[in-house]
Amino acid sequence: MKRDFLKLSDLGRDALVAIIARAEALKAERRAHRRFGGVLEGRSVALIFEKPSTRTRVSFEVGVRELGGHPVVLSSRDMQLGRGETIEDTARTLSGYVDLIVLRTFGQSRVETLARWASVPVINALTDEHHPCQILADLQTVQARRGSLEGLRAAWVGDGNNVARSWAEAAQILGFSLALASPEGFTLDGAFGPTVRKTTDPREAVKGAEVVITDVFASMGQEAEAKARLAAFEGYQVNPGLLENASKGVTVLHCLPAHRGEEIDAAYLDGDDVAVWDEAENRLHAQKALIEHLMRG
Ligand code: CP
Ligand code: NVA
Repeated sequence: MKRDFLKLSDLGRDALVAIIARAEALKAERRAHRRFGGVLEGRSVALIFEKPSTRTRVSFEVGVRELGGHPVVLSSRDMQLGRGETIEDTARTLSGYVDLIVLRTFGQSRVETLARWASVPVINALTDEHHPCQILADLQTVQARRGSLEGLRAAWVGDGNNVARSWAEAAQILGFSLALASPEGFTLDGAFGPTVRKTTDPREAVKGAEVVITDVFASMGQEAEAKARLAAFEGYQVNPGLLENASKGVTVLHCLPAHRGEEIDAAYLDGDDVAVWDEAENRLHAQKALIEHLMRG
């Protein structure tokens, strides 16, 4: 049976741990030499974007190439999909050409429909509800800095969005502690087990946290709400003041792109506490490890 990756919880604990370890090994290999090739030799991958992207697009395109495959990058605007051809028909057509489909889209149901109708594996490259590829890279980043994910104390400060949901799934799978701080009305819905708690107090959430994660207040597709959200998220900016009671040596993550001066202090983003450039690079290594896992079946 084909394997899809539509949300982080599609992976069990063992697979998740193995992918993170493999991602770090691929990173070391890439630094040591630049000989590429692998599981996608002689294969092609469709990368479809219904929303903008810098990191996901480039890291997947380069990663597919480095695994020996041929990436076909598509904006839905240029496809018949953008003129109303159904996801079902697109899935069946592309399955005749490529060996893997990566999709960035709006509702989670779109990536689920694609996976149902495609005969090849499908990867979620961000939906309104989930961003599982991001969390693979985030976990890799934290593990490398901290030595392990065992007993981690993490805090999310901001919108209860797609990235937050994938982090909550990670905490549930791996059993680490995650405090999610969001203003009233922007809390992540759903229950994620005893190690994940929700609060409306960002100071309380970050107390003792070793990792603090944030993201934009208005995600792609919410541009019309941006002004109202900026007001609603007052007090949620990640800055040295907010983090004064976080753990010493706290690591701050942000999936990027950042709105400097909104959810994170502009200068703080460039400081040593913030691991965002390593986090962004790790998208490449983590997704290569993921593709190996899916293609080896
Ligand atoms: N973090 C992330 O997914 O970035 P892009 O939107 O640039 O792909
Ligand atoms: N929450 C953000 C993440 C961007 C990578 C968005 O969905 O726009």
